[in-house]
Amino acid sequence: MEERRKKAVVLASAFLFFLLQSSCALRRDQFPSSFLFGTSTSAYQIEGAYKDANKSLSNWDVFTHSQEAKIKDGSNGDVAADHYHIYMEDVELMHSLGVNSYRFSISWSRVLPRGRYGTINPTGVAFYNNLIDSLLLRGIEPFVTLSHYDIPQELEDRYGGWLSPKIQKDFGYFAEVCFRKFGDRVKYWSTLNEPNFMVINGYGTGDYPPGHRNKQLIAGHNAILSHATAVEIYRKRYQVKQQGKIGIVIFMCWFEPLRNNSLDFLAAKQVMSFHVAWFLDPIIHGDYPPEMQQVLGSKLPTFSIKDRRKLQYKLDFIGINHYTSLYVRDCSVPPCNSSGSIDESPFIYNQRNGIPIGKPTAMPQYYVVPYGIEEVVLYTMRRYNNTPMFITENGYAQHSNSSMTELLNDIDRVDAIRQYLTYLNNAMRKGADVRGYFVWSLIDNFEWLYGYTKRFGLYYVDFNTQKRAPKLSARWYQQFLHGVEVLHEHDEQVDTI
Ligand code: BGC
Repeated sequence: MEERRKKAVVLASAFLFFLLQSSCALRRDQFPSSFLFGTSTSAYQIEGAYKDANKSLSNWDVFTHSQEAKIKDGSNGDVAADHYHIYMEDVELMHSLGVNSYRFSISWSRVLPRGRYGTINPTGVAFYNNLIDSLLLRGIEPFVTLSHYDIPQELEDRYGGWLSPKIQKDFGYFAEVCFRKFGDRVKYWSTLNEPNFMVINGYGTGDYPPGHRNKQLIAGHNAILSHATAVEIYRKRYQVKQQGKIGIVIFMCWFEPLRNNSLDFLAAKQVMSFHVAWFLDPIIHGDYPPEMQQVLGSKLPTFSIKDRRKLQYKLDFIGINHYTSLYVRDCSVPPCNSSGSIDESPFIYNQRNGIPIGKPTAMPQYYVVPYGIEEVVLYTMRRYNNTPMFITENGYAQHSNSSMTELLNDIDRVDAIRQYLTYLNNAMRKGADVRGYFVWSLIDNFEWLYGYTKRFGLYYVDFNTQKRAPKLSARWYQQFLHGVEVLHEHDEQVDTI
């Protein structure tokens, strides 16, 4: 009975939603025809096959099997969405969606099980060759991340992973293997996915592997120089011949002043620097941001002459992963009272006067704040001289324990994506050079510390059978990409599987 009532409510709101949508439709042709529209995934979150065909263990394989891991449902990515075995099915899903690009990452431990201390794994290389070829056959441009949080565990055991400058050499070696093996067909490379988020979690709070605390500055320093090492190799030996582009992907929240005063304005600016400019300033302007230098002084690592020589190779594009906006409050006068704060230095809040910054989602601290995407893009445009940008991730999470009807009729996701695209389009009309947008994610997958308790996919995955089913958002995206403005009435309800 309850389920039936819920279904009726969902149906009614779907109907209203599409009526509303027809009056403020967003169209594909508001974006350039060369614009990349895609979906995004990462190796550890979807591939599974964690020990197949000579793949070694990665830091995430080891971490999820250890006692320290605080994964919500005690799960891991051993099988995940089994993409390694059924990738062709996923390529067909993308083909039917009508995307012209797909962002995925390469599992370092599948291609180089022992980093530069062992040999290249031909089966790993063959997997990515097949994937790339299948995509290209269907007119889908591969947009490849070299490392999306995962590194071979051997590098962690040998020298402490990102804590050691030795990782720069290993990362350069891995990058070069990928350029050599796949660069004839891959025209978009991202060196690292969200090194800012990765080092804050893995080396600051210790929630991600390897679980260190207060070591994020040095890990970040090595990540910046690893990016620079890979770009130098690409520029000197591959780019002219392969004609591709190389960039980096940064996790970018928009930080909004809590109060309308100059102190909060400056505090918000400072937090943006500590999250975003921390990585992009050295890569693009050659040194850490002045805001960080002022606050951290000698705690901040410095770049040697040799490092600076490497940094001159910069990047070709900035990848932006955007999920939420948050408020920032200066704490000097009057001092902060911690209620509602999620971070105490300086204070970051998710609400103002008890009202959340946007519509809550299934991820704590992720709110739907559509104007935030316009703000992060304009911030990046201004600070980095309108370097070409891609929205490499933007998406919406559901709770896995919602009813099947709710999971498949994901109206809130459609609404969020549609609004984010509208605001992205505003930024582009203001002159921002944005060249693509990727929905996170193609399919439901392993959501790091949340395991399988959250679902970000356009396609629902039954993790017992590995069957995929389109959610309403998949149908919406498909129609949008095919230039259809509104869904037809009979398409509104997605049947449960
Ligand atoms: C990461 C993804 C993750 C997504 C949703 C991004 O920060 O790159 O791996 O699944 O956020 O939380």
